[in-house]
Amino acid sequence: MDTQDPYDDSETPFIPTLGAKPRPTKGRKLSRRTICAAVAGISLLGFGFLLLKPSSYLDTQDVPSYSAASNSSSYLQGPPTQRFRDNLRNDTKYITSFSSAGWTNDVMTYGNLIYLALLTERIPIIAKFLSSHIDSSEPPFAFGEVFDVPRLSQAIGIPLLEWHEVKDSESQVFDDLGGWSVWESVERYKEDPRPRESPIIDRLKLDISWTRTPDWVKLTPPDVIDDHASFWSLATLAFPLARSESLGLPNRPSPQHHVSLPPDDQLLCFDFLYFIGAQRPWEWEMDYSPAWRFVGQHMRWNVTMEKLADAHARRAMNVPADEPVPPYISVHIRHGDFRDQCRGLPLDQCFASLSIIARRVSEVQEELHTQKGIEVTHVIMTSDESDPEWWSEVRALGWTWVDYATDRTEEIYGKWYPVFIDAIIQSNGAGFVGTRGSTMSNLALRRVQTWHNGPTRIVQWGRPGADDH
Ligand SMILES: *[C@@H]1O[C@H](CO)[C@@H](O)[C@H](O)[C@H]1NC(C)=O
Ligand SMILES: *[C@@H]1O[C@H](CO)[C@@H](O)[C@H](O)[C@H]1NC(C)=O
Ligand SMILES: *[C@@H]1O[C@H](CO)[C@@H](O)[C@H](O)[C@H]1NC(C)=O
Repeated sequence: MDTQDPYDDSETPFIPTLGAKPRPTKGRKLSRRTICAAVAGISLLGFGFLLLKPSSYLDTQDVPSYSAASNSSSYLQGPPTQRFRDNLRNDTKYITSFSSAGWTNDVMTYGNLIYLALLTERIPIIAKFLSSHIDSSEPPFAFGEVFDVPRLSQAIGIPLLEWHEVKDSESQVFDDLGGWSVWESVERYKEDPRPRESPIIDRLKLDISWTRTPDWVKLTPPDVIDDHASFWSLATLAFPLARSESLGLPNRPSPQHHVSLPPDDQLLCFDFLYFIGAQRPWEWEMDYSPAWRFVGQHMRWNVTMEKLADAHARRAMNVPADEPVPPYISVHIRHGDFRDQCRGLPLDQCFASLSIIARRVSEVQEELHTQKGIEVTHVIMTSDESDPEWWSEVRALGWTWVDYATDRTEEIYGKWYPVFIDAIIQSNGAGFVGTRGSTMSNLALRRVQTWHNGPTRIVQWGRPGADDH
């Protein structure tokens, strides 16, 4: 994975306006205010209507209700408190961690946290997603508004809590907490290894005193430069023996109150759990990935969010609101910052051309035909490419995309939504074609394979002929 640096995934969907598909009903000139206002009204009504309409070939709406499994009040003292500790139950153990690496990677980080909660039989407390890679002025987004927490909880057999259920989001009280810094030990090869920072920690008003985890948490041999720690070595710190043997490791006083605290045992806290594996690094790409099998695959979408994505997909394919979403092939092509990996190679030689991508799409079409007997003609492109010419080539292939500008998605719902809707549309393809090295593509691929038993392809790139076969 030498070309891969998914840790700072800044991927957000590009919102094409120049290459926007002509919409027969919509005036594109700013001066036609009345038309626009009328259309906006209609489109808002359309949204309301669409959200009530359960109709998809995937039957995503047919999910049972899982309310009983997520009765968070049973695992807390009551409603959110000013200090988190006042809300923890003295007969219950918890685990938490923080995220700071772009949305897709944060999803994987929370997946790892929840898997570690399973290993340690603790209740995970999950923080919100930070918008730093989208627009830092956008408020953080709750995990449970993107993912179906009751369903996840039911599937994996443990309760899950979100930080805003535990501690009042408006609280100004800084809570002291002792935590383990994994980052400081796996980054020992760096000059000044430090605990991983996350703006979430400040938002939660946590004042954390970090203790370095033992060197043996590192997943790969000491002389290998790699940031991964191993699941089970971290899990041992949740139990008395390894914990007591490791308490003497270097500790940093908390930044606010300057207190030195041993790692908390009731609320086990790690600074950063993105780089975790059971057997090797970058495991979310492997077939056996435990974090995917035991947690990730059960992280299904919040139904409200999924219906909104369905409505966008339907409009992209010009399917009337009262008809089901037809099967489509989803494509995710990441360009954006991936150009930094082209090492001076002209981009048209470095990135796979649309004709190469189209070959992969027809392979997926072929496989859907031979294995499932369905003819899938709809293709929905998602990409961060900003070149209007590229988008008009996409259109020339007969493919489509979500026109977030015309749908006024950001305006109506906020800047987070195109990111979520892209991911949901990718995940609900009957088949999927993605980009090598993109964690967003990898997650989409796994979801299409696991949820829909759909054929998938990953397009190679980085040199001329990289995807020849
Ligand atoms: C949740 O648990 C509390 C305390 O155990 C109980 O009073 C309440 O009725 C439960 N709510 C649901 C929806 O099951
Ligand atoms: C634990 O909490 C319960 C109820 O809040 C209380 O009655 C009990 O005394 C506590 N136990 C300990 C050991 O603090
Ligand atoms: C889904 O998100 C909405 C907010 O958009 C929330 O009200 C609802 O409770 C969430 N659904 C579940 C099952 O948690």
